Amino acid sequence: MKKQIKIHDKFFEPFISNQEIERAIAKVAIDINKQYQNKKPLFIGILNGSFLFFADLLKKIDIECEVAFLRVSSYQGTQTTGEVKKILGLDKSIENRDIIIVEDIVDTGITLDRIFNDLQKENPNSIKISTLLFKPKAYTKKIPVDFVGFEVGNEFLVGYGLDYNELGRNLNDIYIISENKMINLVLFGPPGAGKGTQSELIKKRFDLVHLSTGDMFRYHLKNETELGKLAKSYMDGGNLVPDEVVINMIDSRLDYEKGAKGFIFDGFPRTLDQAKALDELLEKKGWEISNMVSLEVDQEELVKRLLLRGKESGRKDDQDESVIRNRMNVYETQTAPLKNYYANQGKHKSVEGTGSIEEISEKIAVAIS
Ligand code: IMP
Ligand code: MG
Repeated sequence: MKKQIKIHDKFFEPFISNQEIERAIAKVAIDINKQYQNKKPLFIGILNGSFLFFADLLKKIDIECEVAFLRVSSYQGTQTTGEVKKILGLDKSIENRDIIIVEDIVDTGITLDRIFNDLQKENPNSIKISTLLFKPKAYTKKIPVDFVGFEVGNEFLVGYGLDYNELGRNLNDIYIISENKMINLVLFGPPGAGKGTQSELIKKRFDLVHLSTGDMFRYHLKNETELGKLAKSYMDGGNLVPDEVVINMIDSRLDYEKGAKGFIFDGFPRTLDQAKALDELLEKKGWEISNMVSLEVDQEELVKRLLLRGKESGRKDDQDESVIRNRMNVYETQTAPLKNYYANQGKHKSVEGTGSIEEISEKIAVAIS
């Protein structure tokens, strides 16, 4: 079973595996086989959703029976419209017959009620209902639902015949809609706080895209893209690349990663103006920053860590204590206003950046979920 899937604009998670479906159908079939000995029931499948359940159920029915289909629709997107739309009629008489309606899912029961009443008018001997899925909390009708594969909650499901705006019917398993709130994390930390390591862990854990503006720059410069050339023209002149160019770069990357479950912004925003520009950009896409996490590590500890890293890696900027302290100060002066900016939106969380890598990662996970 695939971990998470996307259909149209929504995400779904595994809910009922095909194996479990098989087992549930086997049980329903046993009940029906027992109750309809010598009755030659007529199974009426309600299209479109019931086609897989209908087929798999019928394969397990070992008494004499007939089949027919009805076509109705009352759903639009993930909401019932409350109004049953089309009904394509039956091509055979049901008078004196024992009818078993086969539904994929009974939700409010509006569809079922309508079908039941329509069929009732044609004087069948009996009508019973079998459905793979039943949402008892949503059910508003009195008609008993006789043969049920699974009772489920009110969440929207897809797969094994069930669709979301016509897609997903062909999935072998049943999926449940995810809370599709994106996690868009701005991760802050002074040099040496372990931001790189934590970005990697958090990215894996929440299936996020890691956006490092540094990496993006290197990519555009190396590949001499239009953006790369533009950025280079500023850099060659000894100037900082203007925010607007950086924002455009992020914009095109966000578009490229459209299906993403969220992003970790690393190295951006660094100033209030950039934070505001990023908010505007995300808003245009209907997204927003969900959290700003700052890793907090005692300065003396950081200096120690960086000096050690300098010795091991040979990185020049990690070898001189006064250079290190200056970077700390730049970080402090730059980020303090950003912490306030996100705190005012209720989005800032400080996370103690000492302890094991796993402990810190756990704390970040708690902070953002
Ligand atoms: P009801 O009339 O509210 O009982 O809705 C019945 C119909 O709505 C079903 O036959 C399905 O086509 C559709 N439906 C209800 N719940 C779901 C769901 O969770 N996923 C997909 N379709 C659903
Ligand atoms: Mg249906």
